[in-house]
Parts: sequence; structure tokens; C-alpha cells
Amino acid sequence: MTTTAVTHIASLVTNDPSLGNGTPLGLIQDAAVVIEGDRIVWTGESSKAPATDNVLDAAGRAVIPGFVDSHSHLVFAGDRTEEFNARMSGQPYRAGGIRTTVGATRAATDEELSANVARYLAEALRQGTTTFETKSGYGLTVEDEARALRIAGRHTDEVTYLGAHIVSPDYADDPAGYVDLVTGPMLEACAPHARWIDVFCEQGAFDGDQARAILTAGRAKGLHPRIHANQLSYGPGVQLAVELDAASADHCTHLTDADVDALGQGSTVATLLPGAEFSTRATWPDARRLLDAGATVALSTDCNPGSSFTSSLPFCIALAVRDMGMTPDEAIWSATAGGAAALRRSDIGRITPGARADLVLLDAPSHVHLAYRPGVPLVSAVWRSGERVV
Ligand code: NIG
Ligand code: FE
Repeated sequence: MTTTAVTHIASLVTNDPSLGNGTPLGLIQDAAVVIEGDRIVWTGESSKAPATDNVLDAAGRAVIPGFVDSHSHLVFAGDRTEEFNARMSGQPYRAGGIRTTVGATRAATDEELSANVARYLAEALRQGTTTFETKSGYGLTVEDEARALRIAGRHTDEVTYLGAHIVSPDYADDPAGYVDLVTGPMLEACAPHARWIDVFCEQGAFDGDQARAILTAGRAKGLHPRIHANQLSYGPGVQLAVELDAASADHCTHLTDADVDALGQGSTVATLLPGAEFSTRATWPDARRLLDAGATVALSTDCNPGSSFTSSLPFCIALAVRDMGMTPDEAIWSATAGGAAALRRSDIGRITPGARADLVLLDAPSHVHLAYRPGVPLVSAVWRSGERVV
């Protein structure tokens, strides 16, 4: 198999604390990486790199692992420009806005939905994202949810069943009947097409008891839980996530001390989605408080047409550093290794032998520039599974 070395990397983020400077980022200066097929086979100092078939000189630029975006909602049609405009004129964000996208998504063809996913995926890839999770949740009928998952599955392995995004407008007078549908025939149709099950646990969506019933039913069908928790208000979502050993509790914007302690002690990752707070003019989640309590924190885009229409993890990193108390090192870790932890994956989010060869070459001498130079397109090359894709 052909081998390729990327050499003279000014600063390499490996996310292996046993390498380099001994910090969680495992930074190596003047480094090289060797790729063979879809894997990384060697990482170390450039002067010690083995001979390879091809060599690419990074010429003093930085390399980081490909971003792992562990939370997005890309199977949708239409947009919500007017709702965003109204919000920026003082209207609050409400879960009910989701209904607008449900109407547009049901009316779209499979081809339109798939083309939309491909478009946002390509956008994310240009910004360094090499793995992404995505959800259903804008169909809310048995057929529309199952087709959203089938379409998502053409683009990624990390597919999440979110029939419990809001109560379907068809069941406006019968929320209990909708929970029966989500945990019964809809789950039956969707489980074969998904790895994860998610629920929006929030006022105006599903309460703690409904969320528990939905996630427990999903688990019995082999899906693993993750939860939209504590986004718009305090609530039971985070505690439920930890109780059910969910891979991730997502949003975590309104947390009690007990919520923070639970995340600090459990294995559920706290996934923070600063694009949502930015686009809804909401209070920032307090990443510092979670990190100081020992929680594993992931950063993700939540890319969706309502609350966070960004596909850019560099943008989220800049927000997390500026407004959520994270250091640049922590934010880069959270958008790479943190995302991998939220997907319970050990083959991505790091640049060490055996890992998938997902690399981002930055037009900058250090990963810190992602926060230091906000809004600047610093991604200059991307490899996914060993293949140069940007
Ligand atoms: O994660 N909070 C629930 N779901 C999305 C928003 C979906 C929408 O507004 O369309 C979120 O923010
Ligand atoms: Fe979301």
C-alpha cells in the first residue's frame, strides 16, 4: 500500500497525552505523520520520520485531527430566515418553530433531502469536519422518520432516531398517543436504520417521564441513548442522561450544581452547542464549570435551520473560547477527541498509529489560531480516511 508522510508540521495535535508535551493535546513540535491506506501508521518528530512513497511538506503549518461533529440535524428542507430575523428583533426562540421545517421536509423529495445533506456535509468538510452525526426529527410520521434515517445513512454511520423532536402536529391533542407511536410502530420502522436514539427533553417538547419511556424503548431495540437536555430551561434531562448512561447530554445550558456534579462523575459527555446560543441570543453554557467538575466536554455545531444554522466547528471553537470559559487547547480537544467520546469512538479524533487518517492542515503555525483568528478560513487541506478531500 502507498505511504504518505506529512512532514515539518510546526505543531501537531495528537490528542495522545503520552506523546509530545504531556498535555491532553499531546502536542509535538516539528512533527511528521505517516499515512498508509486509511490509517495513521506513524507519528513523531519530523527528523525521525521513516521513508515513504510520497512526502508533503507542511512548511511550518499546524495539523490537527479532523473535527468530529457529534450533533447535527441535516435531513431537512427549507430554511427559517424569517424566524431568525424575528428573533434578532426580540422574539424568543421556541421549540414550536420546528413545525415549519417539518412541513417543508415532508413536502420534499428524497433527492432534495439527500442533496441538502450532501451540500451541508461538503460545507462542513471544507471547514475540517471529517465525521458527523445526524438525526431525523423533521418528519414525525413513521414513513417520514424512516426515510430521513435511510437518507442520513447514505452519508454517515452515525445516525440518530429523533422521532421525539416535538409532538407531531398530527397528534396535537394526543401527546400520549404520539409517545406510543414513537415507542411502537415508528421505532420498529426506524431502529434498523439508526445507531442512536435521542429525545428533546424540554418544555414544549417531551417531559422527563416521556423521555425516559422513549429512550428505554429505544434501548430495548438496540439503540443507544443521547439527549437534548437543559437547553431552554432547567429540567430533568441531564439527570436522566446520566441515569440511562446516555453517550451524551447535549446543550447543557441551564444546569444546577447537582447536574454539573452528575456530569462530572458519570461517563455521559456534556456536548455544548454554542452555535445555538449565538443564533438564539441565549445565555452561554458554562464550559468552565463543567470542566472544573471533571466532566468530559464535547463541542458540536447542532447544525439545523432553526436554532443554529452553522456547519463550522472553527466558529464554535472561537465562541467557546471567547464566551464559555474554555482555553483554546480545551476547545480544540472538545471538537475532536470530545466529539469522538460523545460518539463512543476511539478510532477518530486523534492522530496516533491505528487511528483513521483524518487530518486537517491549517494555514497557521498553531491550533490556537482557530480561536485567535475567528472567522478566517484557516483550513488549507483535509484528509479523510487517508484520502485528500480538500
Ligand atoms: O438542537 N432543540 C431541539 N432541536 C434543535 C433545534 C431544531 C429547530 O429549531 O429546528 C436544537 O437546537
Ligand atoms: Fe439539536
